[in-house]
Amino acid sequence: MVIQGGPVIFNTLHLPEPWKLSTYESAGGYAALKKILADKTPAEDVINELKTSALRGRGGAGFPTGLKWSFMPRNYEGDKYLVCNSDEGEPGTFKDRDILRYNPHALIEGMIIGGYTLGAKAGYNYIHGEIWAEYERFEQALEEARAANLLGKNILGSGWDFDIHAHHGYGAYVCGEETALLESIEGKKGQPRFKPPFPASFGLYGKPTTINNTETLASIPWIVRHGGQKFLELGKPNNGGTKIFSVSGHVEKPGNYEISLGTPFSELLEMAGGVKGGRRLKAVIPGGSSVPVLPGEVMMDLTMDYDSIAKAGSYLGAGSVIVMDDTVCMVRALERLSYFYFEESCGQCTPCREGAGWLYRVVHRIEHGQGRPEDLDLLDSVAGNIMGRTICALGDAAAMPVQGMLKHYRREFEHHIEHKKCLA
Ligand SMILES: Cc1cc2nc3c(=O)[nH]c(=O)nc-3n(C[C@H](O)[C@H](O)[C@H](O)COP(=O)(O)O)c2cc1C
Repeated sequence: MVIQGGPVIFNTLHLPEPWKLSTYESAGGYAALKKILADKTPAEDVINELKTSALRGRGGAGFPTGLKWSFMPRNYEGDKYLVCNSDEGEPGTFKDRDILRYNPHALIEGMIIGGYTLGAKAGYNYIHGEIWAEYERFEQALEEARAANLLGKNILGSGWDFDIHAHHGYGAYVCGEETALLESIEGKKGQPRFKPPFPASFGLYGKPTTINNTETLASIPWIVRHGGQKFLELGKPNNGGTKIFSVSGHVEKPGNYEISLGTPFSELLEMAGGVKGGRRLKAVIPGGSSVPVLPGEVMMDLTMDYDSIAKAGSYLGAGSVIVMDDTVCMVRALERLSYFYFEESCGQCTPCREGAGWLYRVVHRIEHGQGRPEDLDLLDSVAGNIMGRTICALGDAAAMPVQGMLKHYRREFEHHIEHKKCLA
């Protein structure tokens, strides 16, 4: 696995044992926290820097982080919480795991700054249940931070108390949805909550809560240290900073690459060694398995940022780039994707529970030579009836890959139905 370093999160990769507190500090780590505690920086100033930075949530939706932080009720008297989402279960996504593995202190510093700014009593990091080594590394980093009085009581003599707790995920994709995650931390079945109320008013244990992705929080120390404007300039307007892209599929060097938002896709593909074996690029899923696929020739004209990918009809999502060469059968690929969403639907909402099963079964029969002429209209109809009709976006996540495949590769599906074999 290749990991290409960047200025913001993977900035300690070139150093020995980059996960250690001493390494992180030697690269300027915890300077941002020390400064805001020493200056007693008002929360409003930190939030304004985040707004200037155009940092957008790295968990998938790309929601502006400064704006999200401003929703936390400032004068609420009781407990408030900050929750980090390290559940990372979307196929194609493997960046947060590397942050925990190689730079856990960037996340911890980001969470402490978050706790200070949001007035939180404690922070929780919900870590995907199958990554034990990273969980342990995160816990070790927490221990180091506690020993250095960066966490715990009276942090660095500031009179302010804050601690962070790691929490194991339960291995369900839906637990990455922020309110299912809160239910799961509370020890309940991980099912999304109906919104409103939103977590900013009724979150963990019913208290005001802010939830952010691992990469979002790990980007914050850099912003506080260098200023929002500098972060913005690393990327492009409305798409500030660098972002880690998890590149997988048919490339020579799959791995995580931290690059500026706005970098041409062609450059990212080149960094990843190009299409495996020099074959033709057929298609790319640009943001994780839940977003619509785009044809290779469309991708070659795009830059890797939220706005450019959305304009082309897909999403940057969590920055999980799945590259497919010309050997890929799109019917087979969709069958695999649809199975995942069928398996992972929590069953709470009828359109998702029933619809994801319908999508999988219809694509499965097309792939296995039993497709019917009316099946493509049926897929369109089922996908359209799931979209926007569920409590959480897992329903949309099941429908969008189907819609993307039918939009760009309908001919392949028709061929499968007519000839009972693959066009690819
Ligand atoms: C089914 C589903 C799974 C999700 N999984 C994750 C995940 O693993 N990690 C994550 O950060 N966000 C995930 N999200 C998005 C979260 O609900 C939430 O938007 C995000 O954690 C907010 O952080 P951000 O604003 O920093 O992106 C998921 C959403 C859905 C609907």
